Amino acid sequence: MKNCMKCMLDWVDARFPLTSNWKTHLSEYYAPKNFNFWYYFGSLALLVLVIQIVTGIFLTMHYKPEATMAFSSVEYIMRDVTGGWIIRYMHSTGASMFFVVVYMHMFRGLLYGSHRNPRELIWLFGVGIFLCLMGEAFFGYLLPWGQMSYWGAQVIINLFTSIPFVGPDISEWLRGDYVVSDATLNRFFAFHVIALPLVLLGLVVAHIIALHEVGSNNPDGIEIKAKKDPKTHIPLDGIPFHPYYTVKDIMGVVVFLIVFASVVFFAPEMGGYFLEANNFIPANPLVTPPHIAPVWYFTPYYSILRAVPPILNSQFPGVVAMGASVVIFAFLPWLDRSPVKSIRYRGPLYKRWLAAFVVSFLVLGYLGTEPSNVWGQFAASMPIIGGADRATVVARFFMAIYFAFFLLMPWYSKRDTTKPVPERVTA
Ligand code: HEM
Repeated sequence: MKNCMKCMLDWVDARFPLTSNWKTHLSEYYAPKNFNFWYYFGSLALLVLVIQIVTGIFLTMHYKPEATMAFSSVEYIMRDVTGGWIIRYMHSTGASMFFVVVYMHMFRGLLYGSHRNPRELIWLFGVGIFLCLMGEAFFGYLLPWGQMSYWGAQVIINLFTSIPFVGPDISEWLRGDYVVSDATLNRFFAFHVIALPLVLLGLVVAHIIALHEVGSNNPDGIEIKAKKDPKTHIPLDGIPFHPYYTVKDIMGVVVFLIVFASVVFFAPEMGGYFLEANNFIPANPLVTPPHIAPVWYFTPYYSILRAVPPILNSQFPGVVAMGASVVIFAFLPWLDRSPVKSIRYRGPLYKRWLAAFVVSFLVLGYLGTEPSNVWGQFAASMPIIGGADRATVVARFFMAIYFAFFLLMPWYSKRDTTKPVPERVTA
């Protein structure tokens, strides 16, 4: 039997580099031995990607991308298709969990300087993935054709109208109509189920190839390749990814699946954060919901959009600020000038700015979930500061911190005091 397996493997290896790839990327890929909690999220992002693709395929079997049938086809999946409800809830929960996992994964980068030389390309592919993920979530959200799907798409596509000169034409071109309609639904479906997943998969492969080219960073921010065993040329602080980290990651997967299943079974709507109440009402082009808000993962950027005052009645400055708040992540490798990578050896300046950034991200996220009429109520009940209501002033303050974290980084990261970095990774 053993010989037979060996024969088969030799046969495959003579035709396809199976064993050599297994060695390069798993059993002889030496990862730093000090990975911690924050290193679970890369493999979890891969897991959620697979969950989304598999559940998405099954949803597509029963979903109808047609304006008169889309909403009822989702109801049909929920009520009549065998196991349809769990597939749909896994997909909707998976969308939110994807962002939870990816935000944690990106935060790890900020903690340990994983975006720094020589990992800039891993980071840039990551930013590409992040943009793609946002597009994927936006396109997918129109598909159930509920009120929030419809009006959310209307609001976001209308933002393009504010681009000087070409804006109105761009919005019409994106919608394929003068209003969000069947044509819009069809193209969003095409983007959601085929175009963006292909780009996303390509970027994830590039992300991992780049990672395996330079090797993983670690919580000490030390390059383990700098200290190798003279005989074996294996990094002294490296351990084979398989079996050590495959086992560790399986443990992360089990914990994650417990949390994931708890949401799917007990709180799939997550109090309106994962599935909004208004989206259980079929899209109605004649009735605008009183409160149009994006899903939680977009709300920090939505807050930034609302916080920037219009100029000459145009929302364009807000649109630019919102775009910049996402794209600015791409510049991080070149904004960070600290001589050390990991937060363990950085000084108080970086730690305080990072904490301020996290707080501003959370506050902006919260403010973005609040309806604009609440902002209006704030205005009515609270003192007006500089012509804006108090919530807008708070949003502007935190938006300033958000951007300052990035824009002042060249200055404070260089000026910060640092601790000596050890030669070898710490336990
Ligand atoms: C579908 C989404 C993503 C997947 C599947 C994914 C997958 C992975 C995996 C498996 C790793 C290696 C394990 C680990 O270090 O945790 C990794 C590392 C990394 N990822 Fe991602 N990633 C995704 C999104 C992102 C995003 C959005 C960013 C940043 C904008 C990013 C930045 C990085 C960096 C810098 C590393 C190297 C970390 C280090 O060596 O310390 N990734 N990614």
